[in-house]
Amino acid sequence: MNILKMNDSLCPTDTESDRRLACVITFGCQMNEYDSHRVMRLLAGLGFSTTQDINRADLIFINTCSIREKAVQKLYSFLGRLRPLKASRPDLMIVVGGCVAQQEGKRMVRRSPIVDVVMGTHGINRLPDLIRDAWADDRPLVYTEFDYDLRRPETDNEPAPLTTFLTVMQGCDNFCSYCVVPYVRGREISRPPEDIVAEAESLVARGAREITLLGQNVNSYGRGLDQPVSFASLVARVANIDGLWRLRFTTSHPKDLSDDLMRAIADVGPLCEHVHLPIQSGSDRILTAMRRGYTRDDYLARVNRLREICPDIALTTDIIVGFPGESNEDFRATMDLVHQVRFDGMFSFMYSDRPQTKASRMKGKIDETVKSDRLLELQNTQKEITIACNQKLVGRSMEILVEGRSVRYPEQLTGRTRSNKILNFKGPDHLIGRLAEPVVTDAWANSLRGRLPE
Ligand code: 5AD
Ligand code: SF4
Repeated sequence: MNILKMNDSLCPTDTESDRRLACVITFGCQMNEYDSHRVMRLLAGLGFSTTQDINRADLIFINTCSIREKAVQKLYSFLGRLRPLKASRPDLMIVVGGCVAQQEGKRMVRRSPIVDVVMGTHGINRLPDLIRDAWADDRPLVYTEFDYDLRRPETDNEPAPLTTFLTVMQGCDNFCSYCVVPYVRGREISRPPEDIVAEAESLVARGAREITLLGQNVNSYGRGLDQPVSFASLVARVANIDGLWRLRFTTSHPKDLSDDLMRAIADVGPLCEHVHLPIQSGSDRILTAMRRGYTRDDYLARVNRLREICPDIALTTDIIVGFPGESNEDFRATMDLVHQVRFDGMFSFMYSDRPQTKASRMKGKIDETVKSDRLLELQNTQKEITIACNQKLVGRSMEILVEGRSVRYPEQLTGRTRSNKILNFKGPDHLIGRLAEPVVTDAWANSLRGRLPE
């Protein structure tokens, strides 16, 4: 089944024309992508087929993200674009799910009266009931309870994607001062390991070869379970599944990254050599204000240990610039850390006030132009570092899981290295879905190019 992402074209590719059609649109993170797949399965259970054409849909489900203000604005402007469609087809049902739905609740219906159902982050199991009730009743429905029900009532017999996500926990208890996640996703709760292993087995049986285990802070997985287990032991169990070639996980919190997990990266065959380890800032003063629970030196010590245990590890990070009170000196400390660590890649953001968070009430907000200057400098520097890291790979042969043809260069196959870098190379169709070992010939910031040995 297809999930329309915001940057995909809205082309008509219905699977069956005589059934009711649903279009699922996903904003935001990988967790939302996973949730959208669950939504698709539940909608299929209600008799819906998939369409990517919003103009033909009987139901539009929008999965939303509220991590930064920009994402929320994007959602409301998208809802504005849907207004004429709803006016011309009042039967069209519009369901908004995910983090903005959780955050806005009733306010969303007031702000955008075309919305029929507002479903918070814990509402997926209730989706069929909500849709039935909304059809029976003319009034908009709002469901934003936190009910911590980790059951998965849907079953899936469809082929699984070659590379796929699996959520192992939901919510977060860290309350970093800038972050809205604990408010919109609720308290941290882990799924029982047996459920996760069973879902992974099912994914592999249906054709998945690479699984990424997802959680806001996977390193604290298992703490609240009746019989606590470590994330490293969960990884070992999933990695053992026959037919699973690659295993990844995200996101790691630097304060909880255990030695056991670092060793697993080196020792457990399918576990890929890539860690996404968000630092957020290189200044201890700002890290404290962010409530991150580690210092710059703690972080550097983890990185050194990781590189000692697994010299080939690829390291990526997240950084926020312009956190309240961030002085020029604090920003220089971040730049200095970036030069010191030399990350393979980075996601960087301008700080954005989020409702309910501690940081939104802090003094010393930074001017937008200062933030964007800092972001630009950081991104330019990181680009140079990424290119240099990638160029070091020229001449090396790298294992690729071939995902398909490149959209931009259709004569080339595309896939990712174990270190999570995109690599394109010329090759035959029969390699799609298999592992290949091209030699890297060129390297840029966003991708590598390779050639298959003669
Ligand atoms: N402003 C800017 N960036 C943020 N992030 C989380 N909250 C905010 C915010 N209020 C970034 C962090 C996090 C990533 C997913 O989004 O860097 O790691
Ligand atoms: Fe947000 Fe911090 Fe939790 Fe990550 S660890 S989701 S940044 S509160």
